[in-house]
Amino acid sequence: MSKERDDVLHSWCVQSEWQAPTIVGGEGARLRDEAGNEYLDMSSLAECSNLGHQHPHVVAAIRAQAERLCFVTSAWGAQPRAELAAALLDRSGFHGGRVFFTLGGADANEHAVKFARQARGLPHGKVIARDRSYHGASYAAMALSGDARTRGQVDPAAFDVLHVPPPYAYRCPFGSDNDAECGQRAADAVAAAIDAQGADQVAAVLMEPDAGSNGIVAPDNYWPRLRAITRERGVPLIADEVMSGFGRCGEWFAWQRHGEDARPDLMTLAKGLTGAHLPLGAVLLSAAMARRLEDQMLYTGLTYCGHPLSCAAGVAALKAYEDEGLVERSRLLGQQMHAVLKGMQARHRLIGDVRGGHGLFAVVELVADRASRTPLAPWPRVPAGLAGLVRKAMAQGVSFAVRGNLILLAPPLVVGAGELASALNLLDRLLGEMASAGTEAA
Ligand SMILES: Cc1ncc(COP(=O)(O)O)c(C=O)c1O
Repeated sequence: MSKERDDVLHSWCVQSEWQAPTIVGGEGARLRDEAGNEYLDMSSLAECSNLGHQHPHVVAAIRAQAERLCFVTSAWGAQPRAELAAALLDRSGFHGGRVFFTLGGADANEHAVKFARQARGLPHGKVIARDRSYHGASYAAMALSGDARTRGQVDPAAFDVLHVPPPYAYRCPFGSDNDAECGQRAADAVAAAIDAQGADQVAAVLMEPDAGSNGIVAPDNYWPRLRAITRERGVPLIADEVMSGFGRCGEWFAWQRHGEDARPDLMTLAKGLTGAHLPLGAVLLSAAMARRLEDQMLYTGLTYCGHPLSCAAGVAALKAYEDEGLVERSRLLGQQMHAVLKGMQARHRLIGDVRGGHGLFAVVELVADRASRTPLAPWPRVPAGLAGLVRKAMAQGVSFAVRGNLILLAPPLVVGAGELASALNLLDRLLGEMASAGTEAA
């Protein structure tokens, strides 16, 4: 651990404060460190290990592919790449469309924007995204993200990106205390932004359709309304399903909860695509979008686009979701988890809001005062009491993810019902201890 602490530049942390166990193995929802301690993973690491750790069929598929062929450039064909593209188009219903493979989520979003701009013939066409969104940490992806933490590093205007207020119903930027009204006004803000630019100048709208990695869960009416608004104006809609896809929100892809009419024009994927066994991202293009690119030169690519090992992992991952009924399992356990968290909200005044629950993804937002909804700490700082809660949970073998005042619950979809119940019990107890120690200070 000390060598890693000294030699590796770690992401999203202060280097001198980095402190984490060295993980040497895992199985199902559990990870094991070099000292033999086990941790129940309540966040699927970075909301990506949807299939649990070391899924045997995915590991076997990687091994088998490695013995056949590790790499061939995307200028040439590769069997697992073709197989995965066909399976993704089939599973998502993007029939007649195409798949562009990337290495992860950020480059998938950047490429979705490139393709939308090229298809529209608007190389500098505006892209409308929203505040409190996260689309990745490369420069253009940071420009697309509405993330206060990285805003100082990049000017969205330099990338022709503009942001609208989010559908954050608990703290509605439009002053509404009604979820549906907030969802409607947030979608209408996109319509107003398109109209202000002129629809023929807007290359795309890019949004997370359900759960956002910055802790916002859009009200039910938001995505269908956004779809109607963009369709009426002829502006392509890109769904960032990097986190919400592959069962996380109770469907293969979160927009599907709203039915066929809610289908986006492009969809970006990563994380659960291989269950995080190997890095892989993808952009799915509808048949209409793909047709517009059919006879144009595509001046883009990545050396490892559609890497055979990653694609073989993807094929096995898709089969595992299907064979094990993990999407339905996520929906069922997600509803149960949400009900338990709502029960906790009734007991702990520290909990201002509980949202999500369409699948195994929920956000618990902590407040200093429930009536005024005063945040426990200003966003995006993690309150000291919450950091303490995470440390205590780790010491008791459960790993929780937090962002600012938010606890993000996103266990692997294979988590046992008993494991889930025991983790939620621990959370309940630690929230009680945190409250009695005096919120922030604990
Ligand atoms: C919604 C969303 N989009 C994009 C990304 C970026 O993905 P990556 O870290 O693979 O570049 C993330 C990662 O957390 C995400 O949650």
